[in-house]
Amino acid sequence: MVIKMIIGLTGGIATGKSTISSFFKEEGIPVIDTDLIAHDLMKQGQKAYGEIIKVFGSEILNEDGEINRKALGKIVFNNEEKRLMLNRIVHPLVKEVVKEDIKRYQTDGHKIIVIDVPLLFESGFDDLCDKTLVVFTHYLIQLERLRKRDHLSKTEAEKRIKAQMRLEDKVLRADFVLDNSGNINATYKQFIELLHKIKKFC
Ligand SMILES: Nc1ncnc2c1ncn2[C@@H]1O[C@H](COP(=O)(O)OP(=O)(O)O)[C@@H](O)[C@H]1O
Ligand SMILES: [Mg+2]
Repeated sequence: MVIKMIIGLTGGIATGKSTISSFFKEEGIPVIDTDLIAHDLMKQGQKAYGEIIKVFGSEILNEDGEINRKALGKIVFNNEEKRLMLNRIVHPLVKEVVKEDIKRYQTDGHKIIVIDVPLLFESGFDDLCDKTLVVFTHYLIQLERLRKRDHLSKTEAEKRIKAQMRLEDKVLRADFVLDNSGNINATYKQFIELLHKIKKFC
């Protein structure tokens, strides 16, 4: 039997999930990006498209008929009920794709597979994982990085952070934690140490 490890990678918005994902990829470890899967599922002709328009109306469409994700984001981060409705449409579909991807990577002989899931604990994706890894940053650094990356006002950025489970609670539930509050080198050093630990299991 092949000993395998599926690692659920999560954190808060802009705490560094994509950054850590790229470290794993550099090591040849596949990363399943659930944000990317969700975005694909929302495209015209894909499985989530019709349901989303049914709930949110054609006002959220661009001229070319594609869903305007920025407009959708603005709606759901100002309305908790709508945010949950969107998640109820998208999450089960994402999970299906993730399961297929896991199978494919395992068939290809990969022992370690990472799933990048912003809402790992909130949406029950941790069921699919053997271990969970949380990328942590201190709040003010998270806020600053989020504002800078997504060009958000302080209020908008705070709303997006508050819509998620508290980062401290994620840390408490995690098997592994990386502190990305410092510079990239400091984080990379922690990553390499963690990788050694993970490889010992496999
Ligand atoms: N250690 C770091 N020092 C400075 N900037 C960072 C660091 N880690 C990540 N960033 C930057 O912060 C932003 C958020 O990181 P990202 O990996 O995109 O977060 P997530 O995928 O969790 O939303 C990005 O613009 C990224 O380049
Ligand atoms: Mg990301």
